Amino acid sequence: MNHHLLLIIHLLSATIWVGGHLLLCFAYLPQALKEKDPKIILNYERKYEPVGMTALALLVITGILMAYKYGVTFGYWFQFETPIEKVISSKLVLLLLTVVFALSAQFRVLPKLKTDSGKLPEMTFHIISVTIIGVLMLIFGSFVRFGGF
Ligand code: HEM
Repeated sequence: MNHHLLLIIHLLSATIWVGGHLLLCFAYLPQALKEKDPKIILNYERKYEPVGMTALALLVITGILMAYKYGVTFGYWFQFETPIEKVISSKLVLLLLTVVFALSAQFRVLPKLKTDSGKLPEMTFHIISVTIIGVLMLIFGSFVRFGGF
């Protein structure tokens, strides 16, 4: 697929992924903490999840396809040698971190959050961490057009 088209899909998906998490951080999370009501987060997550997970999947697919177009194929990943490859490998590390947080939230925190508002601080930590990681992935991505770092 054409690189420009891949980039457009990548940017639209980044908008949904990062924007959705910023909305959660700045609008729904403060309200849930103020009212000590986990349902505010759970209701948002339920509606956002299918859209957010589709966006993340598209980010990974388009990101890897663009990485290949830059010559950063599987065998070069995690070598941290050339500028563009450093950006891509850093993004892959952050992607793995995102997956770890998502699995931890899904299996450790969310099931208990339904009945226990005492889990709100732990959920807050997960939400803020995934949001910061998403913003970092966006910032790292912007380095590619300047030749990497
Ligand atoms: C939360 C996940 C991600 C976000 C928010 C994100 C965001 C971005 C943004 C904003 C750009 C800048 C494009 C520009 O300067 O016009 C970009 C570029 C890029 N991203 Fe991602 N990205 C994510 C995941 C990934 C992954 C998993 C990969 C693959 C390993 C990847 C590979 C790339 C590449 C190769 C570019 C350069 C495209 C170009 O300018 O030609 N991204 N990304």
